[in-house]
Formats: sequence, C-alpha cells, structure tokens
Amino acid sequence: MSIKKSFSTRAVHSGQKPEKITGAHATPIFQTSSFAYGNYERGNKIFAGQETGFVYSRIANPTTLSLEAKMVDLENAEAAIAFSSGMAAISSVCLSLLKPGDQILALGPLYGGTEALFLNLLAQLDISYKESSVERLADDLSPKTKMIYAETPTNPTLKIHDLSKIAKFAKDNELISVVDNTFASPYLTRPLDFGIDISLHSATKYISGHGDVVAGIVATTKSYADKIRSAGVKQIGANIGPFESYLLLRGLKTLAIRMQRHCESANIIAHELKNHKAIKVLHYPGLKEHAGHEIAKKQMLDFGGMLSFDLGSKKSAQEFLDNLELFTQAVSLGDVDSLATSPASTTHLAVPLDILEAQGVSPGLVRLSIGIESVEDLLDDLGQSLAKLG
Ligand SMILES: Cc1ncc(COP(=O)(O)O)c(C=O)c1O
Repeated sequence: MSIKKSFSTRAVHSGQKPEKITGAHATPIFQTSSFAYGNYERGNKIFAGQETGFVYSRIANPTTLSLEAKMVDLENAEAAIAFSSGMAAISSVCLSLLKPGDQILALGPLYGGTEALFLNLLAQLDISYKESSVERLADDLSPKTKMIYAETPTNPTLKIHDLSKIAKFAKDNELISVVDNTFASPYLTRPLDFGIDISLHSATKYISGHGDVVAGIVATTKSYADKIRSAGVKQIGANIGPFESYLLLRGLKTLAIRMQRHCESANIIAHELKNHKAIKVLHYPGLKEHAGHEIAKKQMLDFGGMLSFDLGSKKSAQEFLDNLELFTQAVSLGDVDSLATSPASTTHLAVPLDILEAQGVSPGLVRLSIGIESVEDLLDDLGQSLAKLG
C-alpha cells in the first residue's frame, strides 16, 4: 500500500490480515500448545533454525505474532516480544542482558514491583542498582554500570525524565538504555525515536485498556530482541497466552481515541484541582508549573491520563479514597474505568520507607487513573469526596 498511514490507522490495521484459510477478519485465537510440523525432516529443520514454522506456543504462536507485529509498528521498533506480565517483561530484559557484577542506574521513582525486583532477586544474583537522575548520571557511572533504567512519566509521581539525554549518555558510555513506557503508551511517546534501546510496557494498562488482561511488551532492536526472546521466552517461559494476545490486539485498535479522551479529561481535572485547599501538591506534567513540563512537551504528544496529589496525611488519603463513589479503589491503571489508589499502602508497599520518602511517595499521596467516563461526573465525584475532608 502506498498511502502514508497515521498512528490511529496503524493501531487499527498493523499486524493483522484476514486469516488465510477462512478469511476470518478478526485475528483468530490459536489456542493450541503445539503445531503439527508434518514430517521428521521439517520438524528437525525448524528446530535447527533452517526453516521457519510454528512448533510450540511457548516459542511462537500466530495470534501473538500478530500482536508483536502491531507493536513493532506502533513503537517504531525492529522487533517486539509479548510477555505474560509487565514484570515478566522487565525481569526477562534484566536477566537476559545483565550478569553478576553488573550495575543498573535507575531513574525513578519506579513502580514498586520493579524496585522490589532490583532490591531482591537481582541483588541475590549480584546485579546491583543505584538510584540516580539524568543530572547525576556522570557522577554515578562506574565500571560496573551496564544499564540505565528509567520510567517516564514515573509511577506514581509523574516525574519526567529526558529521553534524548538518557539515550545520548547511554550511547556515549556503551550502556543499554531501557525505558518503561507504560504511563505514556506508544500513542504519546515512542522511546526508540529518541535513541533509547528498549521500550517496555505493562500491557495490562493502556495497551489493553479494559482492565481484563495481565501482559507485558518489549519493543527494541533485532539484536536485543534475539537475546531477550531466547532467555525470557524460551528459557524462562514468560510467554503470553494466545487469548491475552487477542485481547491486546482488540484493545490496541482503540488506543488512539482512548488516549485522547484520557488526556483531555486528566488535563481538565488537574487544572480544576490544582488550587484546591485540601491538596498540598498536585503532580501532572500538563501543568506549566510541573518541573518536567517543557521536556514532556518535547517527548510526549499529550500529557497522559494519570495524576497524583498529596492530601498531607494517611488519614486524609484514606478518607478521600473511601468516600469516592464513581472512582473504583483499585491498583492498576489505564483502564476505561477511573481508578484511585494510595500507592504507599498498595503498589509501593514493598519499597523501603526511606526510598519512598526521598521520592515523595508519602502516605498522603493519592494516584488517579482517569478513565473515559464523562469528565463532569468525575469532577463531581472528586469534588464531593474532597469536600468531606475535615
Ligand atoms: C509502570 C509500571 N511498570 C510495570 C508494572 C508491572 O506490570 P504488571 O502488573 O503487568 O506485571 C506496573 C504495574 O502496575 C507499572 O505500573
């Protein structure tokens, strides 16, 4: 096809063609563990890498292949790998590319599960990590450093890290740069366009969009993908199932319009709430006063559907959350339904208090994932609950 296709069009069409045998328009769920390879010689050739073909769904599955092809296109990557969860994607990237003695420079705050992985399992394998920042990278660099790992926007304080600076530093120092792109989604940011080596997602969030799948995605170059697939998918077995791949293919078709609505409503809510007397500080990169606003304008198409604010104490956060009527108190994010949580008491509970405090993840912090409901209704709910605070 010769026409130039925009992101929204590619989100609908890429990676999916009518199925060859029946012409099924929606990509079928190939719910099978193995594939008949026909005869001894062909089976042997596929396993030896001399012929391509499906043999076993841990290694490759046609529904998952469609999903990976769509993600390659949406992330402007050479290759993509789907995983059974965001954590499976993150741990597979680290276990595939790092070895004992290596160090990660982490630009956080990070999702609590990632911080726990770095603090526990990777530490047991003598892979260390150090909290750093874009400004401190040069000071923190050591001969052991092998990877820079960043989230942007960060969970839960919506800090923005400069992708171009991270990529340049990584290239200059022969480090692998990894970005957790979950909060932005490929609609808002494509880290590889800025020179980042690996973009990964909890696909549980905006990529699914409907809160009914747990999954992960890695988008990267062919050479990193070969290593990650071989360790993460073949050896660790952190592969996604075909039904989950189907649900993500379905969710991705509406990613662009969902993100437009999430961003529009979050922006209205952030501007409406920023001066509320019960709110000490509100984090939203779309606000001019946000420290990362100018960088966000450069590397994000819009400012996202997540925001967080500090109500000053655990008591206020608890009261506020318990009085919400429309927002569901739940972890996760990026769903069509609006969700609210206290990160310090849930998603970030495994992170030591001193780290949380240094990162501004206080007991009074509340995180909102703005859904696609009517923004007036969401504002009413937030307003009534804030008004009840003593
Ligand atoms: C930013 C971020 N990265 C990674 C993860 C882990 O993803 P999953 O829950 O799909 O394993 C999460 C989960 O909330 C997250 O918020």
